[in-house]
Amino acid sequence: MIEYSNKQYDPIVFLMESVKPHLLEIDQYNLFSGWVFFFGKKVVKLINVYECCISSTERGLDPIATAEVNIRRQDIADFVPTIPAAKKCGFEVDVFVGKNIKKLSFDVVFEDGSSELLFEQEMDEIREKSSYFGILRSRLDKINMPDGDLVYLTQGSANVDEYKNSIIPSVMNICDYLSASGVHLNEISSLLDFGCGTGRLLTGWNLIEPQIELFGCDFNMELLGWAENNLPDKICFTKNELIPPLPYRSGQFDLIYLISVFTHLTLETQQVWVNDFKRILKKGGYLLVTLHGELYAINCFYDNDPMLDRFYEKGTECAGEKEGSNQFSSFHTKEYVSQLFDGFECVGYFQNGRINDGRVPFKVSSAQDVYVLRYTDGVNG
Ligand SMILES: C[S@@+](CC[C@H](N)C(=O)[O-])C[C@H]1O[C@@H](n2cnc3c(N)ncnc32)[C@H](O)[C@@H]1O
Repeated sequence: MIEYSNKQYDPIVFLMESVKPHLLEIDQYNLFSGWVFFFGKKVVKLINVYECCISSTERGLDPIATAEVNIRRQDIADFVPTIPAAKKCGFEVDVFVGKNIKKLSFDVVFEDGSSELLFEQEMDEIREKSSYFGILRSRLDKINMPDGDLVYLTQGSANVDEYKNSIIPSVMNICDYLSASGVHLNEISSLLDFGCGTGRLLTGWNLIEPQIELFGCDFNMELLGWAENNLPDKICFTKNELIPPLPYRSGQFDLIYLISVFTHLTLETQQVWVNDFKRILKKGGYLLVTLHGELYAINCFYDNDPMLDRFYEKGTECAGEKEGSNQFSSFHTKEYVSQLFDGFECVGYFQNGRINDGRVPFKVSSAQDVYVLRYTDGVNG
């Protein structure tokens, strides 16, 4: 096997399942919970939480809360067979979020006593938007959610609450990727959610940016049928086939995004879709795509050196059965992405979903790599 020395991925893999920013209560205790593990030999033992007050530029020396990382999470362990610590990677930490907190910092402490910053949660925006978040929450409460069986088909877990609570932060997260790529929302008047499933993200766009024309398509009629019957009529859903074309007119969209969709298609199918996206995107329009990068490839091919070698040599590899389902996966290096999306300029690359090299607590697609691409074919500059 070839030795790959300069791995680029972030070895700390985590998700804050709760409290999502729009649900955070100021001047109260909030239970922060999630999971975290190190993709390697180190073991995460503790989470320490520090506060930085409005009146100070430095965070406090002592943690305001601490918790062991030891809650059993077989659901996570199943995805990472080589990491024994993932079996008990869950944590819950109760934190009093006072009115005067500017920032919360979450550190991980390893078994060897070393520690590092996991992520920071700025409080200013949450404080400013608290009444707006209240309105979004009550609107969201009036919208039907799919049942656990349908949620499982798109999210790989049947947790309906997590599905519902992910809607607002996921759209905010997509907006952050666009903004960090220099894309302004006022450039987007129509968007397509390709592989929209039950319309999870379109539900959020309709609440947050209702002026945008919203379209969603999927090849799974069970998912799409639920969305058509339960979500606002304003969102236009279309069933497509495994391969193109889509029934939209040329140059119709300012933005097409694909969240965990190409991750489940063969390279041939991806290529034909890219060609159809070029047809329906406006020149100068944007494509946001999430892909399994190096971290996922090493995890999947841990016992299959030839496939991992091929991933590095070709820049891509696929595994599994039933294209289009979660049982089939594809993997991409950054180099391969520039070949696949020929005619596009990469204006944003967010490895493992990080923004400005900082970890993001709530990501639309876990630790996938996120690309924002501008369709430049035939466009000057
Ligand atoms: C992992 S799920 C993600 C769903 C949704 N994007 C979300 O984030 O909630 C992948 C979705 O892609 C859809 N899909 C897979 N292949 C497709 C294709 N060729 N055309 C349209 N949708 C496809 C699946 O049916 C499924 O809804």
